[in-house]
Amino acid sequence: MKNVTVFDHPLIQHKISILRKIETGNKEFRELVEEITMLMCYESLRDLSLEEVEITTPITKTTTKMLAGRKMAVVPILRAGLGMVNGVLNLVPAAKVGHIGLYRDEETLEPQEYYCKLPANLETRDVFVVDPMLATGGSAAAAIDFIKQRGGDNIRFMCIIAAPEGIEALSKAHPDIQIYCGHVDEKLNEHGYIVPGLGDAGDRIFGTK
Ligand code: PRP
Ligand code: URA
Repeated sequence: MKNVTVFDHPLIQHKISILRKIETGNKEFRELVEEITMLMCYESLRDLSLEEVEITTPITKTTTKMLAGRKMAVVPILRAGLGMVNGVLNLVPAAKVGHIGLYRDEETLEPQEYYCKLPANLETRDVFVVDPMLATGGSAAAAIDFIKQRGGDNIRFMCIIAAPEGIEALSKAHPDIQIYCGHVDEKLNEHGYIVPGLGDAGDRIFGTK
């Protein structure tokens, strides 16, 4: 699918393997989520446009390239998406940060909204929605609905692990967005968890449960 980019960089794959392990503790898990996000963000921003600018070095005037085009907004889906924010901000420190609070109802697996605060003038920004897990795709699709309702029209979604079911559902709900993921796993289990996955990303980041 041309709207899906799966990263094959060896460092990303190696770090995701450590992330999955049951014995990886909360501190290391958080650090890995940030590092993997930074690597994926770096890879995914290869298409940013540049413009020629004139600068002066200590030696001479010269023309060189700097970023052009839209500014960025990063929007984590709470809670687990919070773990990815600094990975993006390390590379794009001027990005504005929005927050969308959603949790999955454990019975229906439907996303329930509890918070939404987004930067102004979203239509002027490239919006990066981040969440480590794309399972049924319900949370990501709902978050992107909110962003579009508030004017966002250039949206990317980045996750660390995706289920095929989530990719299909999100591509169907929002065929215009680009999906970036570190790995596409096998399937969802009967509780809506990704197999083999890494368990509950929010609990592993924040040490709950
Ligand atoms: C997890 C995850 C995603 C969602 C993915 O969050 O971080 O937001 O599930 O599932 P879906 O694709 O089926 O919607 P969860 O609902 O567990 O909330 P939390 O981040 O607060 O733990
Ligand atoms: N949310 C998670 O945190 N993990 C899964 O496997 C599915 C949804």
